Amino acid sequence: MLLHEQEGFQELCGMSAVSLPTDGEIGMGLHAEPLLYRHVLAQAKDDYLEGVSTVILELPHRELGGKLTPWQDIVQLQQLCKDRGIAFHCDGARIFEATTGYQQSLPELVKPFDSVYVSFYKGLGGLSGAMLLGPKDFCDEARIWLRRFGGNLYTLLPYAVSGSSGYQKYWKDAKQRNNLTFLEKKEKLVRVAKVFSSEESIISQVVTLEPPVPQVNMVHLYLRPSLEDCNRIRDQVQEQLGVSIFHRIRAIEEDDPAFEEGFRSKFELSIGQANGSVPDNVWIQAWTEFCKAAVVDSKLATTLSEGE
Ligand SMILES: Cc1ncc(COP(=O)(O)O)c(C=O)c1O
Repeated sequence: MLLHEQEGFQELCGMSAVSLPTDGEIGMGLHAEPLLYRHVLAQAKDDYLEGVSTVILELPHRELGGKLTPWQDIVQLQQLCKDRGIAFHCDGARIFEATTGYQQSLPELVKPFDSVYVSFYKGLGGLSGAMLLGPKDFCDEARIWLRRFGGNLYTLLPYAVSGSSGYQKYWKDAKQRNNLTFLEKKEKLVRVAKVFSSEESIISQVVTLEPPVPQVNMVHLYLRPSLEDCNRIRDQVQEQLGVSIFHRIRAIEEDDPAFEEGFRSKFELSIGQANGSVPDNVWIQAWTEFCKAAVVDSKLATTLSEGE
């Protein structure tokens, strides 16, 4: 909400946000913690929670590479909200992914919350759209607000159909349809991540994973080479091995703390049906080739700059 929605809550509803965990700044990027009970409690002590209507918890935290708030903290947050008459909302865009990080079923996982938002087009692979879940009177009122905000469409049928189809294919009947389950996707990511982070691997000289052990089917990769170098080397590897190891990669801005640590580009990795069918050893070989070329490049750059 704070990053991608053009301050809609402020501009349209006149609400303001208390961003946690730090005063005025959102904890983001490399090494940042997920929202914890103590972050909210610290604000409660200063009476900061006076007038707060809703605590929103994102599960998993997308900007943190899919880290999860520990279950115990969720339970404590629920109690704190209940005691203070604050609504507890879950941004569960990737709630199916989140289940794999807790020993909880989907109904158990959503139980502490008063309302939950679920995306149709992330793990479910639908066309677009989302669902808001909560008590009937809440959803009836939300429907009115949807209209007020101009979010109504004449028909939602295509989105409902593709969301429902994704739910059957990737959640409910994934096994019967020979699709990877959310848990299998996470497990593949964890296996590959382990090799990437191992000190013996050249990959760990070039790439750092956040979090080092993925908690769900998502991880952020921080890379030392620049965006241009990453794209160039990726194309070389693709030509050599016929494997494309990433497509959407972003430059790290100078004000990002990861820049200080020497990282220049990053991207988000999750396993889907297509890359999930690529054997682990092919992934590792392609990334090893990528990182070897990146190390040679950086040594060359150092030699050239020393010779100047
Ligand atoms: C965590 C999270 N919440 C909410 C959204 C918003 O999704 P939409 O408005 O398309 O339903 C996104 C989109 O990427 C997201 O990652």
